[in-house]
Amino acid sequence: MKPQISQKAQQFTESVIREMTRLALEHDAINLAQGFPDFAAPEEVKEAAVRAIRADINQYAITWGAREFRQAIAERFERDTGLAIDPEREITVCCGATEAMVASMLAVVDPGDEVIVFEPFYENYGPDAVICGAVPRFVRLRPPDWSFDPEELAAAFNRRTRALILNTPNNPTGKVFTREELATIAALAERWNSYVITDEIYQYMVYDGAEHISMASLPGMRERTITVNGMSKTYSVTGWRVGYAIANPEVTNAIRKMHDFLTVGAAAPLQEAGAYALRLPDEYYASLQQAYVRRRDRTLVMLEAAGFRCFKPRGAYYIMTDIAGFGFPNDVEFSRYLVAEVGVAVVPGSSFYSQPESGSQQVRFCFCKKDQTLDEAARRLARIRTGAAAKR
Ligand SMILES: Cc1ncc(COP(=O)(O)O)c(C=O)c1O
Repeated sequence: MKPQISQKAQQFTESVIREMTRLALEHDAINLAQGFPDFAAPEEVKEAAVRAIRADINQYAITWGAREFRQAIAERFERDTGLAIDPEREITVCCGATEAMVASMLAVVDPGDEVIVFEPFYENYGPDAVICGAVPRFVRLRPPDWSFDPEELAAAFNRRTRALILNTPNNPTGKVFTREELATIAALAERWNSYVITDEIYQYMVYDGAEHISMASLPGMRERTITVNGMSKTYSVTGWRVGYAIANPEVTNAIRKMHDFLTVGAAAPLQEAGAYALRLPDEYYASLQQAYVRRRDRTLVMLEAAGFRCFKPRGAYYIMTDIAGFGFPNDVEFSRYLVAEVGVAVVPGSSFYSQPESGSQQVRFCFCKKDQTLDEAARRLARIRTGAAAKR
């Protein structure tokens, strides 16, 4: 008899997104599943990393982050939110926003505590709760605008609620939370003395005049907000694994401890490049946004032409779609058909919900891709209707 694996590990299945990436490779499909750009990272940011390696910044950085990078994070945060933060006491640099999120949760959540998560949700938040021994309570975002019912949210809070996980701009829905919605959440977090852990990794990807508002900037919220962010999306370097958490000094102290024993530290030379990247001029962010609006609009045209009902995103780089028109029994069968017979990989909607049936007629596309990739996807998707009809 073999020793058992942990109950925690038994609760996890393979990430559906990674499974789709694997199937995409197997079938030589266009991967519109996992959210990573297939275009080059900015030349000057890459150069900054090369310079740092050549300058022999190749040993452990300070555990909670290279000083220069933390300084740049503080400058950028102040520019974006008006809040002055202390880089010595309020920032922890981690291995991606992914680690920043789990280290933050471990820092404030005890086993048995409850954590509120809006659903559909970025699929890591469920396992993150399991790792912490927390009980997730889900509150529904409802299409077409993915708004929540304030009463349903109020009912989810109780004295065991230690934190609410917020993600704005939102993956997978593209929702950008309004000031009014944030104020509703803030009032409840204050009333129940809970933290808000806010994942703002898509903060520079907002469209149609939508405004990204940081929860920490709302009155009274600075002290109870942990802001998670990172380099992956803004600088198209998802493989660098550099992110960070911003929180009050007491919480930062706890996050730093978790981070230290999880990973010791993020890649030292890439943090130096991060200091360079975060100080890029405003034009960089403006052109990033313009490029993404264009990609979003052409992807919407392609999907609508292929017969998908799209929920137009106001932020991030994904499009949630309704697939009811294709007549498939569920999202997983449809996604397998799409990857194997049409040659395009997507993420089945069910992977974003606690109850798979809630997403059984949805799939998510990502559009952080080169024009030629999107063109080829459009060519392939045009085959869908006839292919789907033939299948039925
Ligand atoms: C909402 C959200 N947070 C975090 C991440 C991962 O960030 P990182 O690469 O910094 O770990 C992703 C990646 O898709 C995401 O969608």
